[in-house]
Amino acid sequence: HSVSVLLPAAGQGTRLGRGPKALVRVGGKTLLDWALEAFAWADEVLVALPPGLEPPARGAKVRFLPGGRTRQESVYTLLTAAEGGYVLVHDVARPFVVRAVVDRVLAAARREGAAAPAVRVPDTLIEDERGHYGPARDRERHRLVQTPQGFFRAVLLEAHEWARAKGVQATDDAQLVLGLGYPVALVEGDRRMFKITYPEDLLLAEGLAAVWRP
Ligand code: C5P
Repeated sequence: HSVSVLLPAAGQGTRLGRGPKALVRVGGKTLLDWALEAFAWADEVLVALPPGLEPPARGAKVRFLPGGRTRQESVYTLLTAAEGGYVLVHDVARPFVVRAVVDRVLAAARREGAAAPAVRVPDTLIEDERGHYGPARDRERHRLVQTPQGFFRAVLLEAHEWARAKGVQATDDAQLVLGLGYPVALVEGDRRMFKITYPEDLLLAEGLAAVWRP
């Protein structure tokens, strides 16, 4: 089965404060470039850009579409245009794509229909009770979820249609599949695939970019 990579890159990058995240530079190239290089092997790549942003010129396998008001809407737009039997949804905010993780995600998605990479929680995990230290959660039982997440395309489409009908909002795609009642396999992620969200994340990213070998 062919693989379509969906890149929701239509965010305004508000928390980072550097304009649209897709165009933020790390190691001399944009976050969009990092993603397009990491997934150059895919059968097709669909990118959601902020409406009004001029799509950079790319190869025939890459298509640009205007994103929606939320990440979820942007993914839905890309999903309805995708043609692959499988889709990988990846946030461009994660420039360091570890190929072994992608392989694990795809293998698990092929077996189980849906898969997401995740890493363990290194710190003590608690609830913030209005500025006071709340109960600790068992960190061994919690995970931090990354992308790319992989799905049989029909499964993710059904989950997004269901969420739209029910008004369900989620911060990632696996949550919607789970919400619909399908299992999502967890595979081992990689801490290098961290998400650039806050300005200090750019310092980490520049450091990693300097030594990165894909
Ligand atoms: O806001 P957040 O960091 O969760 O965004 C995750 C990803 O979703 C980013 O890559 C961002 O560009 C994308 N996004 C989008 N359309 C939106 C909002 C966010 O494609 N309307």
